[in-house]
Amino acid sequence: MQVGNYPGDDPDEQLRRHLENSIAGFIPPRFRAEIELPKPAVEWAANGHNAGGLYLTGPVGVGKTHTAYAALAAWCRATNTTPFMAGYDHNYGVTNRYGPTVHVVRATTLLDQLRPGADGAREIVSDCQRARLLYIDDMGAEKPSEWTQERLYEVIDERYVACRPLIVTSNLPPKSLADHVGERTASRLAEMCELVPLTGSDRRRPQ
Ligand SMILES: Nc1ncnc2c1ncn2[C@@H]1O[C@H](COP(=O)(O)OP(=O)(O)OP(=O)(O)O)[C@@H](O)[C@H]1O
Ligand SMILES: [Mg+2]
Repeated sequence: MQVGNYPGDDPDEQLRRHLENSIAGFIPPRFRAEIELPKPAVEWAANGHNAGGLYLTGPVGVGKTHTAYAALAAWCRATNTTPFMAGYDHNYGVTNRYGPTVHVVRATTLLDQLRPGADGAREIVSDCQRARLLYIDDMGAEKPSEWTQERLYEVIDERYVACRPLIVTSNLPPKSLADHVGERTASRLAEMCELVPLTGSDRRRPQ
């Protein structure tokens, strides 16, 4: 009689399940349903750690955020990355902070976290710079100051020089972005990102 021959004993299968559970737990409930990814987003995710940026743009309610999360999930599968946020380890009375593998932040929240004098701004900048994948939601919805534009530039430039993957969603086409994020950040995003316009009506309002 074989011992331990259960379907769940296959290590590859266990890893795959762990990854799927981690992805499902990471994505907010509203955006967990499977949707069809646009082809450029499928190709972007398949590039794994060599993926550049993905810029999803379109009008309100067209599905940018949902598509971004679906692309994030596809990227995690392509790279075998378990997505987790920053946190703290407590070992033998010593507390260590660890950074996120995948960092998701709303642009308005990010700029609030980075305002002058805000607590932990350095760590947030570093998380955004160093996460394996950064997703900034709703870029251009914020009213940044020169100071917050500089912080955002620090984030984007670091990822630009290191060629780290990025997802951005925005109501704005890239050419209108410079007024919100500054010329230097907008220029880098234009070079880094695959532009994916989403069209259609507001999915929140049944026609
Ligand atoms: N491809 C899709 N198929 C079915 N439902 C979708 C799809 N994409 C998005 N949705 C649903 O449509 C609604 C709006 O999507 P979402 O929030 O992603 O839009 P958005 O473009 O990010 O809007 P906003 O500009 O206001 O941020 C959500 O309930 C979402 O789950
Ligand atoms: Mg959105």
